[in-house]
Amino acid sequence: MLPPSLLMPLMRRLDPETAHDLSLTALRLGLAGADTTPDDPILETQAFGRTLKNPIGLAAGFDKNAAAVNGLGRLGFGFVEAGTVTLRPQPGNPKPRLFRLTEDKAVINRMGFNNEGLDVFLENLERVDRRRVVLGANVGINKEGADPERDYPTLVNAVSPHADYITINISSPNTPGLRDLQSEQRLAAILSGISSPKPVFVKIAPDLSEDGLEAVISVAVQHGVTGLIISNTTIARPATLKSPFRGETGGLSGAPLFAPSTAMLARAYKLAGGRLMFIGAGGISAPEDALAKILAGASLVQLYTGFAYQGPALLPKLKTGLAVLLRTLGFANVAQAVGAGT
Ligand code: FNR
Repeated sequence: MLPPSLLMPLMRRLDPETAHDLSLTALRLGLAGADTTPDDPILETQAFGRTLKNPIGLAAGFDKNAAAVNGLGRLGFGFVEAGTVTLRPQPGNPKPRLFRLTEDKAVINRMGFNNEGLDVFLENLERVDRRRVVLGANVGINKEGADPERDYPTLVNAVSPHADYITINISSPNTPGLRDLQSEQRLAAILSGISSPKPVFVKIAPDLSEDGLEAVISVAVQHGVTGLIISNTTIARPATLKSPFRGETGGLSGAPLFAPSTAMLARAYKLAGGRLMFIGAGGISAPEDALAKILAGASLVQLYTGFAYQGPALLPKLKTGLAVLLRTLGFANVAQAVGAGT
């Protein structure tokens, strides 16, 4: 097999969705390599009742059907979030629906929850080596014929036995009406129907207003939610974007999302006053970015776009760099650094 240093430039020449499908196939077949260096013990952290070797996770959307979780685990992620899965299979939006904004170190996607549905997802989850992989299951609703107050509880009940935590995704911009479920009333109605033995997280959009964020936090606390994932992609288009694809419809991720998602995370951490746990996502592509999210209040972090651009070599780079930064700042472990910058 070609080494990653040659493979990544080749992958970037393919259209982005083909490149993505190829990497998933390689991962599923065990051809994507492994990170064999043991993680620095300073990175070890506790979450979901488990010990994670490091706080760096793969964000949802990369492995929507949970088809390559074992391979992804071997790359050195501290945890992997599979999904978003919907009750019934659905094709997603017409292609092209995934765009590389190379000049901006960003991506726009309007995939639209393309996935093979709950039954296939469950079959795949059964094949996950749960001793080696800490696993999250991210659930969402179908574009057609969905009943959120019924479907989310059904999905949560089905995936709970097979995952370490569950994510309620109400923040994708590519399913019409989905983000309206972030309103106080709708979210309360959905969460009222959910009871899971596993920690439940709600994943929110970086485009929520200040009042909207306060409302989500109070409803989440009232309903015993474990934490929030901040954030999903944004529908905003910063004026700084240079790529010709910047006008495409969909959610923007990567570097331009870093500042707004980290600012929202810091606000949420303060508002929650210790009552919720946070997973920080949005624009992580270097150790400093991961550290900034942790200092802003994230107990764990996740990435997608940075991984799509830099490939598996990013993981050892992030982990080694984060360990050095934590040590330099005088922290003995990740937990000590959580929220230390707020
Ligand atoms: C995503 N993301 C996403 N999130 C989610 O909860 N369910 C999903 O199905 C998807 N699908 C998806 C597809 C693609 C192509 C991208 C780029 C992103 C959002 C993702 O999990 C993450 O929250 C954001 O992308 C921000 O992190 P990065 O990419 O800036 O590191």
